Amino acid sequence: MRSLINILDLSVDEINELVATAEDIIENPAKYAEVCHGKKLATLFFEPSTRTRLSFEAAMIELGGSVIGFSEASSSSAAKGESVADTAKVISCYADIIAMRHPKEGAPYVASLNASVPVINAGDGGHNHPTQTLADLLTIKRETGRFDSLTVGLCGDLKFGRTVHSLIEAMSRYANVKFVLISPEELKLPSYVKRDVLKKNNIPYVQTTSLEDAMPELDILYMTRVQRERFFNEEDYLRLKDSYILDTKKLENAKDSLVVMHPLPRVNEISVSVDDDPRACYFKQVLYGKYMRMALIMKLLKEAGTI
Ligand code: NCD
Repeated sequence: MRSLINILDLSVDEINELVATAEDIIENPAKYAEVCHGKKLATLFFEPSTRTRLSFEAAMIELGGSVIGFSEASSSSAAKGESVADTAKVISCYADIIAMRHPKEGAPYVASLNASVPVINAGDGGHNHPTQTLADLLTIKRETGRFDSLTVGLCGDLKFGRTVHSLIEAMSRYANVKFVLISPEELKLPSYVKRDVLKKNNIPYVQTTSLEDAMPELDILYMTRVQRERFFNEEDYLRLKDSYILDTKKLENAKDSLVVMHPLPRVNEISVSVDDDPRACYFKQVLYGKYMRMALIMKLLKEAGTI
């Protein structure tokens, strides 16, 4: 059974197909309105979420399907001690496809080994978030017209930010991509990502603490929230939370063609005054996420023989 646990589960060709499908949905939404008629998506969210869960739900509804699920662990049988494996077996009896978010790294993978329907990782701890990456990729494609020859700045919590880890994996497959990793010392990109993705593939990268210094050369600036829920103590969070605040002043040194992205939710990382700058793309990114999830749901259900 084909699931999506890591963004590298999809080949570059498959990403291109998903992008093409999403663009066709944007142009011809009516064509897709009944594709998943009678099918059910289960959203199993053991961790808070606004856009990922609602965007999966909106995606399935726009495909003519319906949605069941829960949005907090306390309202599921996990609160009684049920294992992820058992939950996956049970939900497979009710739904045609599962989207799961879990605070433990690897939980959606365990679910995929036990479910008899496709499982989509909707974020596992500080590890991966492949469907956010699909949203990011469509944004990059539509805003820059390409995936190659880009200097990508990633700024903020690169240690716990799972969206960053998945985006680096995805972008590392394109030619002439360079990363500028901007973070405080304590929130640097984990060494396993540097070793297994960047160094292994000879991808050029620099690490810096200065957003201002990095700004002029960037084609993409991907801002992230400091991941409070993954800190061991509140003091460290309070000290680091406002390390980077993008404002209109800092953008003065940026390229006119810069694409400013953020997976959201934003806390303080981007001043609201930036929202009116034509380079701010984070709300478009939200919309693109829904179209990519529609494309993904259709792909996985087709491969499972469900539609
Ligand atoms: C991200 C996440 O859950 O990792 N949110 C999202 O899905 N758009 C980013 C975050 O929570 O900071």
